[in-house]
Amino acid sequence: RLVLRLLAARAEVLVERAAEVTGRPVVVATAVVRDGAVLAARRTRPAELAGRWELPGGRVEQGEAEPDAVVRELREELGVDVRVTGRLGTDLPLADVLLRVHTAELAPGSPEPEPLEHGALRWVDAADVPGLDWVPADRAVAADLVTLLRSG
Ligand code: CDP
Repeated sequence: RLVLRLLAARAEVLVERAAEVTGRPVVVATAVVRDGAVLAARRTRPAELAGRWELPGGRVEQGEAEPDAVVRELREELGVDVRVTGRLGTDLPLADVLLRVHTAELAPGSPEPEPLEHGALRWVDAADVPGLDWVPADRAVAADLVTLLRSG
């Protein structure tokens, strides 16, 4: 078990390094958590993902720190102010990017989230996370999301 954990940790480091070496851009997705629920956003594009739910986020810009990218993307997409609280799951290599999930909470005094770039928003509790129609990459962190929501 310990050996497996060490191997998993090692693999994670290697994936992060590979991303740096190949320059594969990082996309940050964010689990905004409040009162035991996570904020899911419904995509409107591209056609094959339209109508499916994701954790909001976007591409990290050159030279930008990831937590700064999370704050910027969520301000653009949802009109909120967030505080980044941690990371969730392991990095997910997609076709041309690396998806990395951060966790966050609304900052005190933040406006309520609005779907400025999505079709709809929804607070999803642990019981409803497994049944939601997530985009494929986000489906991979659903189990970790349930654990996170149940722990808080
Ligand atoms: O359009 P932009 O480059 O701002 O970012 P995006 O389209 O939101 O995300 C870039 C890539 O990451 C796309 O291939 C998305 O499908 C993927 N993505 C994802 O799989 N899950 C998320 N929660 C966010 C993005």
